[in-house]
Amino acid sequence: MHRFVIDGGTPLESEITISGAKNAVLPIFAATLLADGPCLISNVPELRDVTTMLKVLEKLGCRWEQEGPGTIRIDPRDVRCYDAPYDLVKTMRASFIVLGPLLTKYGSARVSMPGGCAIGVRQVDLHLKGLAVMGARIETDEGYVKATCSRLRGAEVYLDFPSVGATENIMLAATLAEGITIIKNAALEPEIADLATFLNAMGAKITGAGGSVIEITGVTSLLGANHRVIPDRIETGTYAVAAAITRGQLLLKDAPVSMIESVIAKLQESGVEVAPRDTGLLVKGPAQIRPVDLTTQPHPGFPTDLQAPFMAYLTLAAGSSTISERIFENRFLHVAELRRMGADARVQSTSGTVIHGVDHLSGAQVMAGDLRGGASLVLAALAARGRSEVSRVYHIDRGYVRMEEKLGRVGARIRREDDRAPETRPGQP
Ligand code: UD1
Repeated sequence: MHRFVIDGGTPLESEITISGAKNAVLPIFAATLLADGPCLISNVPELRDVTTMLKVLEKLGCRWEQEGPGTIRIDPRDVRCYDAPYDLVKTMRASFIVLGPLLTKYGSARVSMPGGCAIGVRQVDLHLKGLAVMGARIETDEGYVKATCSRLRGAEVYLDFPSVGATENIMLAATLAEGITIIKNAALEPEIADLATFLNAMGAKITGAGGSVIEITGVTSLLGANHRVIPDRIETGTYAVAAAITRGQLLLKDAPVSMIESVIAKLQESGVEVAPRDTGLLVKGPAQIRPVDLTTQPHPGFPTDLQAPFMAYLTLAAGSSTISERIFENRFLHVAELRRMGADARVQSTSGTVIHGVDHLSGAQVMAGDLRGGASLVLAALAARGRSEVSRVYHIDRGYVRMEEKLGRVGARIRREDDRAPETRPGQP
């Protein structure tokens, strides 16, 4: 296992290039299962979750190869297996998204239930209800969802909550269904519009993606297609906070400015200077951080994935802030770790915290418990006095491309170490 060793206190300066969006590429990879030919996907971020999704596709029979930096060619023509096993799905919940494509294309799928994860229960009931309305026969047995159908039929699917994954799974399934599917109260996240763009390039007929009503007219087959993945809005927000918390200045190249308006608004409210540039977003940290109150919401509200990074930032505000978490029920694992660094943050209920700003944070040994919580500890460490060690970096590697290299190039004193590497080798002093 790896850890980051970080000496805090250096303002970050210069440029960071934003990678392709993790949450866009994962469903796009699943969508390649629907094609009758090879697909070429570019701007693919080098992440652990991407590797996991490729393993799932490989297990199903897809062949893939890297065609160049960040470009992956996936050929689904040899898919013969419709079974996504527990040992893969348990490491990444997003792999459950292969259910819709397998079912609609092959009439049969057996996919492990994702189970709980560190940030909450994360059910899949909305995915299953939607597919059932479209005619799927669904059984859950021994921890697996088994779904079968002859051909799915278009239907009106109303989501009780605008779940990102359920919207994607149902949209993927509807592309090859007979007739028209209408998803109401669909999730609005930009990654859904990106998935629809790819599916339409394959020959699907989807309108309204990115809005709350999505209409999909089923077709009988889909072709291979090329697609460039949108930039990652969560990585953008994380590095914007890195500039702000270290009182530095960063140009975030390729930042998807229009997708992070709620984040920009909160940064500005706290005193950060944010200016769109032709090449991205310029972010300059404030001399004094003003406290803010924020509530996570479905897009275009403030994203839950930036809740933990913002909490790290607000621990240094001149006053008290509150954060309400409305998407996941247990997403405050980072609070106890931030407190080890001197933060005065308290969980008041399963969905609310209050953060009293402190004068400074102090370096400490802390542990990442989940992906975004792990990122928040790195941000806190960048601003803290002294040395911090953030362990269990594998969580961070799931969603940030070589974070230590990107931060190191803009002045952060951060290095990756192997936990098992001996401090001194035998025979050495
Ligand atoms: C996606 C993102 C994740 C982000 C989240 C919310 C990917 C790969 N991951 O996750 O980074 O934090 O959106 O923006 O895109 N729910 C149900 N029943 C369901 C489905 C969801 O109750 O069938 C609940 C979940 O338990 C959770 C909430 O709805 O409390 C949001 O989940 P959802 O929008 O589905 O998130 P994911 O697609 O898992």
